[in-house]
Parts: sequence; C-alpha cells; structure tokens
Amino acid sequence: MDKKVFVTHALPGERILALSAHCDMNVWLGPGLLAAEALREELAGCQGLLCLLTDRIDRELVEAMPQLKFVSSMSVGVDHVDVAALTERGIPLGHTPGVLVETTADTTFALLLAAARRIVEADRFVRQGEWRRENRWSPDFFTGKDVEGATLGIVGLGAIGQAVARRAAAFGMQVQAWNRSPRQLPGISLVELDTLLQSSDFVSLHLPLTAETCGLLDARRIALMKPGAVLVNTARGGIVDERALAEALASGALFAAGIDVFEEEPVPEDHPLLGLPNVVLAPHIGSATARTRARMADIAADNAIAALSGEPMPHCVNP
Ligand code: DGY
Repeated sequence: MDKKVFVTHALPGERILALSAHCDMNVWLGPGLLAAEALREELAGCQGLLCLLTDRIDRELVEAMPQLKFVSSMSVGVDHVDVAALTERGIPLGHTPGVLVETTADTTFALLLAAARRIVEADRFVRQGEWRRENRWSPDFFTGKDVEGATLGIVGLGAIGQAVARRAAAFGMQVQAWNRSPRQLPGISLVELDTLLQSSDFVSLHLPLTAETCGLLDARRIALMKPGAVLVNTARGGIVDERALAEALASGALFAAGIDVFEEEPVPEDHPLLGLPNVVLAPHIGSATARTRARMADIAADNAIAALSGEPMPHCVNP
C-alpha cells in the first residue's frame, strides 16, 4: 500500500502532482489555517507531512506520531518545528532555502523605502480625503529620510542579508554588518552588534529565530539605536522585543519601522505596533511572489519525494 502523506494546504507549483504519484496524498483544503487539533487528527497514520510555517510541529505532536518518517516544510525558516524532537527519532526535516532570497530582499527594501519616505502614511492621507480637506502642501509636508548616503546595518549576513546589501549599495548607502561568525565581503564593513546599532541610520534583520537569536534586539539594544533610525524586520518577530520597539517608535526615539513578521501571527488586533502611524506593516509576505512561492512548493515536494524514495532530501535541515 502507498505511504500516506498529509499536506496542510493546497500548494502552487508543478511538483505537487509528482508527489501525488508517489503516495496516498491527503490535502487539507481549508477554510482558514489548520488548527493544531485537526493537524493531529489528520497526521495520525501518515508517514509523511508537508507543512507550512503556520503549522506548529512540536515535540508532543512528533511523539504522538510513531509512524512519522519525514517532514517537509514549505519555508526556509524552521522555528515552527521542534527540530531536536525529529532528529532524535532520525526523522529528516526538509526546507526551502535559496529560491526566496531575492524576493525577500525586495520586500525588505520595499519596507525600508516605505518607512523612510512615509509612503503608507501619505497613502492614507490622500485616500481618506485629508489632502483636499486640509488643502495643504508645504516644504515640510510628509518629509522623510534619505537613503542615499545613509548607513545600513545588516544583522545577519547570510544569503538574504547579502542580497539586501547589494540593493543598498545600488541606492548609494554605506553598508555595515554583524554576523555571528565573521564573514568578509567586499564593500561591507563588519562591526560588533552594539556598534552597528549605535551607528546605523537603518537596521535590517536577517537571522533565523533560534534559542540564541530570540529577543536579540531587546530593550537595551533598541535603546542603543541611533536617534531617528529605522528598523526593518523581515526575519522573525521573536528576534525583537516588540513592546520596547513600539515604545521607541511612539516616543520618537526611532523614526519608523517596516515590520513583516511578528512574535504572534496573525498579529493580535491590540498589538502595540498596530496603532503607530510610523510603522509600515505587512502580514509575513517576505517571499510572496507567485514565482517564488511556486519554487518553494516545488522544493518542498521534491524533499518529500526524495524521502519517500529512501533518498536524502535535496534540502535537509538535520542530515
Ligand atoms: C520562510 O520561508 O521562512 C519565510 O519566512 C517565508 O517568507
């Protein structure tokens, strides 16, 4: 009998069809996000799981599934998965690196520019009729911050951090970076994290969420940031103390922020960042282009096909 694989969402791309030829595939079709209890019920009896970053694969779930042989996540980040619990059982975990690098760097830059130039605030002003009502235009009208000549501090110089650095150079920015392990790259000066925060006009985060990076940008470090700086986060919300960030933005210590990721997603309606005019918000769409999402889904399907065929996954987190 075919091995059973549960897929937690309908997926784009072409390889999902190939996967269906390798197994008895059950796809959850919604509506909305799959609840933890439903995942537990659907996964019972399945050898494989193809999931999204919205599915929590914790130790309790892994331990309740003695038949589980592989997990493939359609994401590069795997902080939603208890990797140690899988590794202890010898269960490979696939992910989808590489293909989302340029798309996520574009989102980062979109947020950086939108925050620097107050684009969303200005959009609201026009859309809500304020411009006409106030009949106003003045030299200091919606003035923002220049990126040309400004210093961008990149926290985490992996593939996405480097792609952001290339864009920053093209915009005439000076680029400095901090990376956990020193990494020399032309045109980028490496500095200590606290130095980076004290001396950057813009700071952009490009780290995975791990035990080491959780809360890395805490209240002390946020207070170190240059007065009037802009923070961009397309990595993971848990890296930042969101309350301290909201306070720094509300007091004017920081000029603005562009935030694509939150500690809790979907973000609660009473989250302190949501009431601030100087924050550009997005619902975790860093890699959201149709082409990139199809490529991610194809890699996730190929990881699953490899596991079903008894071969190493092309992109395995815990080899
Ligand atoms: C990932 O794949 O981890 C990204 O956060 C998706 O945008």
